[in-house]
Amino acid sequence: MTPTILLIEDEASARFGFVRYFTQEGYRVQEAEDLAAARKALALDRFDAVVLDINLPDGSGINFIDIIKASDPLLPIIVITGSGDIPLAVQAIQKGAENFLTKPVDTAALAAFLTKTLETSRLRRHLAARQRLAPPDPFCWGSSTAMSAVRQLAAAAASSDCPVLISGETGTGKGMLARWIHRQSQRSKEELVEVNCSALRGELLARELFGNIRGAYTSADQDRKGLLDIAHQGTLFLDEIGDMELALQAQFLKVLEEKTYRRLGDVKLQTSNFRLLCATNYQISQLVHAGRFRQDLLYRINLMEIRLPSLVDRLVDLPELVSFLLQKQGYPHGPLDQQALQLLQEYHWSGNIRELNNVLERAMIVAQGRELQPMHFSCIRQQGSPAPPPCSSATLEQLEQQQIRIALDQEQGDVTRAAKRLGISRATLYRRLAAQSKQTDS
Ligand SMILES: Nc1ncnc2c1ncn2[C@@H]1O[C@H](COP(=O)(O)OP(=O)(O)OP(=O)(O)O)[C@@H](O)[C@H]1O
Ligand SMILES: [Mg+2]
Repeated sequence: MTPTILLIEDEASARFGFVRYFTQEGYRVQEAEDLAAARKALALDRFDAVVLDINLPDGSGINFIDIIKASDPLLPIIVITGSGDIPLAVQAIQKGAENFLTKPVDTAALAAFLTKTLETSRLRRHLAARQRLAPPDPFCWGSSTAMSAVRQLAAAAASSDCPVLISGETGTGKGMLARWIHRQSQRSKEELVEVNCSALRGELLARELFGNIRGAYTSADQDRKGLLDIAHQGTLFLDEIGDMELALQAQFLKVLEEKTYRRLGDVKLQTSNFRLLCATNYQISQLVHAGRFRQDLLYRINLMEIRLPSLVDRLVDLPELVSFLLQKQGYPHGPLDQQALQLLQEYHWSGNIRELNNVLERAMIVAQGRELQPMHFSCIRQQGSPAPPPCSSATLEQLEQQQIRIALDQEQGDVTRAAKRLGISRATLYRRLAAQSKQTDS
């Protein structure tokens, strides 16, 4: 792709010389004759480097470095100063400029600077993209038949560039799978832009996606790029797409069909080359029947559909998932003993892997580094009741007391049966009860 340079220089003759030379050298140059024009250009376009004159009619280029860095911290800046302005040049470098040249500028020297600067910047961007992705959220596949099919589809999705719709109940790992597909795809070095369509309603979501120009709505005091722009060359992940409102669905369909869009309030067409991943908790076909989702948009987004199974439909994966999640948390004990595992196998897991993770976290807190036993999972003993949040303000002793009390209540005070329910021996339960009554007495 042709590198694009933003040239901020007030002297028309100097600009003319730059543009002629750098266009011949294979660059695209956008000119700004003052800071106001530069500000506008930065809001609307992507650049690979900025060449910045220090003395401009509407302010100092030195202060403008902060604005450039705020818009894109990795955008390299080459500063042009007058011959006696070395202190200013030093100041510019301290503010984050890459390099400086003094006037009159030798275009060949600037070209050499630019080549070097663009190469370093490219490497820096790759490194930053890699760091953002590292450490990747590890994905546990399991060995169930259902997940083998998912794995094959996911691999196919990663090696293609077509839109993918990931569906499944809450907590089945849709978000994690979308990130996995992006990481394995040819776009992995570029941005993965995630948008939750249920968190932003109507106009707000449209503003985020498309961006806007100044004055497009009451509080739009400046031009703003949209997420479609940021996702250019990368992946756009629309989570909970079933919650997108119909009006926006129509606009978004147009983006997918025409590959172009307009920022709110703008007449200029923008293009963005993004790969689309979507996720949903709903059966979108039912939303189509109910008139809440456009059939034509569904055709566009589900060229490939991956349905993640609910945890109860892949219980053979439970031991592997448990070991995986315990290991991820760095818990010293695992795998679980048979009784505890059986308890987990019998639970209905409406919150799927997220709920399993929460239950394990809670058990780890209660067990305090000891081996996890059925007594540490009292929160899932009553089928149908949702698991409490992993952290509560109660102390560990209080949580233990509470579980023992629940077990005794459930077994009408029968210590033998309560001990069995808790997965500990009668003697241990008596010891714990004795310790508790001592604490209460003191
Ligand atoms: N395959 C997996 N391997 C490891 N952990 C997983 C896996 N799937 C889900 N998890 C765990 O479950 C949590 C929830 O996963 P995720 O957010 O991807 O679910 P989701 O399907 O997007 O849920 P929701 O519909 O509520 O947004 C993750 O943070 C992770 O702890
Ligand atoms: Mg999700």
